[in-house]
Amino acid sequence: MLACTGCERAFPVENGIPLMLHEDLPGAREKLRETAGWVEKAKAEGWYEPDDAVDAVLPFVNRDLGWNDLVWLANGHSFQVLLDRYVGDLRGLRVLEVGAAKAWAARYWLERDCAFVATDILVDPKIGLGRGAFYGDFGRVQADGEHLPFADASFDVVYCVATLHHALDLPRMVKEMARVARPGAVVAGLNEGTRGLGRSPENPDQAGEKEVGINEHVHTVWAYLASFARAGLRVRRLERPDGWPPSPYGRLLSKIPKVGLSVGTAVHLSAVHYCGVSVYARKPA
Ligand SMILES: C[S@@+](CC[C@H](N)C(=O)[O-])C[C@H]1O[C@@H](n2cnc3c(N)ncnc32)[C@H](O)[C@@H]1O
Repeated sequence: MLACTGCERAFPVENGIPLMLHEDLPGAREKLRETAGWVEKAKAEGWYEPDDAVDAVLPFVNRDLGWNDLVWLANGHSFQVLLDRYVGDLRGLRVLEVGAAKAWAARYWLERDCAFVATDILVDPKIGLGRGAFYGDFGRVQADGEHLPFADASFDVVYCVATLHHALDLPRMVKEMARVARPGAVVAGLNEGTRGLGRSPENPDQAGEKEVGINEHVHTVWAYLASFARAGLRVRRLERPDGWPPSPYGRLLSKIPKVGLSVGTAVHLSAVHYCGVSVYARKPA
């Protein structure tokens, strides 16, 4: 058991993972329903059983195993941008991932001597935090990204991959990520789904997930930007998660150094139907 001296609640710890998604949290029922939905979906689609050869190279399965998977292409590209542009040679950072699932990113943080904490509502041993043991020894906590069980200003990097769009309350999740970030920290949402202006919030691609109880939403790029701004974060870079140029609509703008890529991406994502975005921001120092 893990006891909180603040709220005096006790949390069970299973296989080294404190279970801190408790039933009194707003939306807990929907979130637990989602965890069952992921297991149902993975079993139905044949990716429930872990494969060491695949998990060892996530997210770079296209590069290393010759796959042609657009989701992993986007996860891999946007995560590499996070490492290259915002981490670089830095070592020993305190890093929090929200919605980490298997926690495949652990090996990239551990090889940089970082103190990595992976959180998710999903603790399943094969597709959730339980599988994280495959990647080594690091912190794993079952936690709701909209109510993070960490003190203010605890982390140097706070990020998520394809998770913000599952939040029941998007501004709340971004605000929590900003709260636990220290001043000057990087806060990023990678590979999140967007819809163009005037497009339906009912994205047909999400229908299957919704049927099994997964909380799916699709926001405009402006809703993401507004959430980051309201959380007091300064967006430094906006780009397509797959790294493709924001053509045709933002191609010209993206040639303007520094701000061009971000403005071009915002224009592009406002005009297209459904697409992804990665948002890289900093908490002001
Ligand atoms: C599309 S999956 C991405 C998983 C992982 N980031 C990856 O790239 O492999 C979305 C993840 O968000 C998690 N999730 C959904 N709602 C959440 C919440 N409120 N707090 C934390 N994690 C959440 C889900 O359980 C799921 O593991």
